[in-house]
Amino acid sequence: MRKKISIGAVRIGMYVDGFDTSWFKTPFLRHHFEIKSQDQLDKIKESGVSHIFIDTEKGLDVLSGERTVRKPVQDVAPGVKAPEPEAVANEAKAPEQPATKYPPPQNKSFSDYIKVKDDLLQIDKLSLVEGTVVVFGLYTKNGMDIVPLILNRNKKGEPVVTKELLNSPGELMIERCDVNKYRDYLKMVMKDSGAANAMSSKNMMIKENAKILVQDLFNTPGDPEKMDACKGTVESVISSIIDTKGLITNLFTVNKHDYYVYTHSVNVSVFSVATAIAMGIQSEGELFAIGLGSLLHDIGMSTIPPEVLHKPVERLTEFELGLLKGHVYEGHDIVKLYKGIPPETLIPLMEHHENLMGTGYPMGLKGGKLHLAGRIISITNIYDTLTTSRPGFKAISPYDALTYLNSQANLYDADILKEFITVLGKSSQ
Ligand SMILES: [Fe+2]
Repeated sequence: MRKKISIGAVRIGMYVDGFDTSWFKTPFLRHHFEIKSQDQLDKIKESGVSHIFIDTEKGLDVLSGERTVRKPVQDVAPGVKAPEPEAVANEAKAPEQPATKYPPPQNKSFSDYIKVKDDLLQIDKLSLVEGTVVVFGLYTKNGMDIVPLILNRNKKGEPVVTKELLNSPGELMIERCDVNKYRDYLKMVMKDSGAANAMSSKNMMIKENAKILVQDLFNTPGDPEKMDACKGTVESVISSIIDTKGLITNLFTVNKHDYYVYTHSVNVSVFSVATAIAMGIQSEGELFAIGLGSLLHDIGMSTIPPEVLHKPVERLTEFELGLLKGHVYEGHDIVKLYKGIPPETLIPLMEHHENLMGTGYPMGLKGGKLHLAGRIISITNIYDTLTTSRPGFKAISPYDALTYLNSQANLYDADILKEFITVLGKSSQ
C-alpha cells in the first residue's frame, strides 16, 4: 500500500515511493528505492521535505516494522473501471499535493536533470483511458520540473486514470523500469477498445512501443535483436498507413513540449513513410528502407555526450558543433555493422541534414545528387525539429513551420512538401 508519512517516521528498510515535492528539489536522482543505509536515511531527512510516500508492500511499514502482506497492485489485472466517486472510500483517496514546506536544500544542475529525463520515458496522454487502473508510476513534467503524480484510487485502493489527469498540463512520464507494465496496459486498452476505436488504439500501441524500442536501442546502439525489432515496427507502420489510406492519426506525437530523440525518430519515420506513400511509391522495399532509415536517422546521437547533446546550439563551441554534426557518420557506422538490413536504409540516414542548395551536411549534396529518400527526410526531419521545443529553442506551430518550409523552395522539394502537407492535413481532421 502506498502511504504518506512524515519525515520523522522514515527509517531504514522502508521503500520510498515518491517525495512530496518535485524531484528537482531533492538530492535524489530517483524517487523509487529502498532505504538501505544510514547515509541514504540522513540524506532524506536533510533534504528539506516534510513528507514522503512509502510502499509498504516493498518495504517496512511505519508501526509494524513488517511489509504489508497483500496481493501486489501490480498483479491486479489492469482495465478495471473506476467506481462512482461516492463509492470511493475516503481513506483511499489520494491526498492533495501540498506545497513544499521547506526551501529546497540545494539546486540541482542541468546535467542532473538530463540524467533523470533520460531515465524516464515520455508517454502520450491520449494512450490513457479514463477509469482504467494504472500499475506504473506516473510523473508530470513541466519544463525542468518533474513531479511524481498522485493518482486518485478506487475502492480497492488501485490508482486510476481520471479526467483531471487527462486534462492536466505538461507531459506524462514513466520510469524506464516500468515500460513492460505500460506495454501491458496498452494491450489491455487496445483489447477493450470498441470496433470504432480499434485502429486508433492500434496506432497508439505501434507508436508508443516504437518509442520504447528506440529509447532502448539508443542505450545499446546496434544491438541486433533491437534492430530486428525496429524492422518489425517499420513494417507495422507501413501496413497501418496503407490500411488507413494514408491516415497517420495517433501514429505520431502531436504535442511535443520537449525534445526526446525517440519521439522525434518515430515521428520522422511515420511522416516519411506516409509522404512516400502519398507520392505513389508502392515498392515495399523502398518504403521499408525509407521507414527504417528514418527511424534510425539519429542513432549516431547515441555517441554524443549528453552535455553536448542537450546544450542550446548557440552555446556550442566550434568543437562541440563538429562533434554534434558527426552524428551522421557515427550513425552510418552503427547501422552498417548490422548486416540484416538493405544498404538503401543508409540513404535517409546519411542525407537527413542535406538540402537542395548543397548547404547541408555532411556531404553538401546539391539538387539531383540528393536521393528521393533524402529529399523526403530533409523535409520531415526539419518539420519535426521546428515544431519541437528544446533548450534554447521554442517550438513554432505546425502552420508556421509549413509556411517557413514553403518559403524555402530553393532548399526543399516543393512537390514532396505538397504531399507532406496533404498527409498532415488529412490526419488533423
Ligand atoms: Fe540528425
